[in-house]
Amino acid sequence: MTSPIYLKVNGVDHSIVADQNTPLLYILRNDLQLMGTRFGCGLGLCGACSVLIDGKKIHSCDVPLWDCVGKNIQTIEGIGTPDNLHALQQAFIDEQAAQCGYCVSGILISAKALLDQNPNPTESEIREALDRNLCRCGTHNRFVKAIEKVVAMGRGS
Ligand code: FES
Ligand code: FES
Repeated sequence: MTSPIYLKVNGVDHSIVADQNTPLLYILRNDLQLMGTRFGCGLGLCGACSVLIDGKKIHSCDVPLWDCVGKNIQTIEGIGTPDNLHALQQAFIDEQAAQCGYCVSGILISAKALLDQNPNPTESEIREALDRNLCRCGTHNRFVKAIEKVVAMGRGS
């Protein structure tokens, strides 16, 4: 019988019974019902599945369960809630930054990872941080504007 694997996601401990090679993305969505993390390519190429692990952005489709044990995983649900939005989420709403919205969780995770490291990024640093997040709607310019707004407000961390 498979032994449980213990994960900490958004500050909550979970016991998961699954093949330890299962990609973290499947556990988040299928076992923990954290649907904010999206499946895009499944190949580590699009950024839709981005989460923070110990503060570092990773593609959750590309990291096995065994590699997450003992680490702090943060998904978009742990960044803010509808009643208590993160400044980035509020700015994305204010700037109407999203179009279809499919990529936005991953974009916000990348933006948060950047601002946690560098609360005062330049425009080119913001663009570089979003470089591995694909957006089929082509709204990167609006994402950058929203992130710049947060930086200008001094809410970058
Ligand atoms: S779904 Fe993970 S990078 Fe595309
Ligand atoms: S807003 Fe549609 S894919 Fe980015």
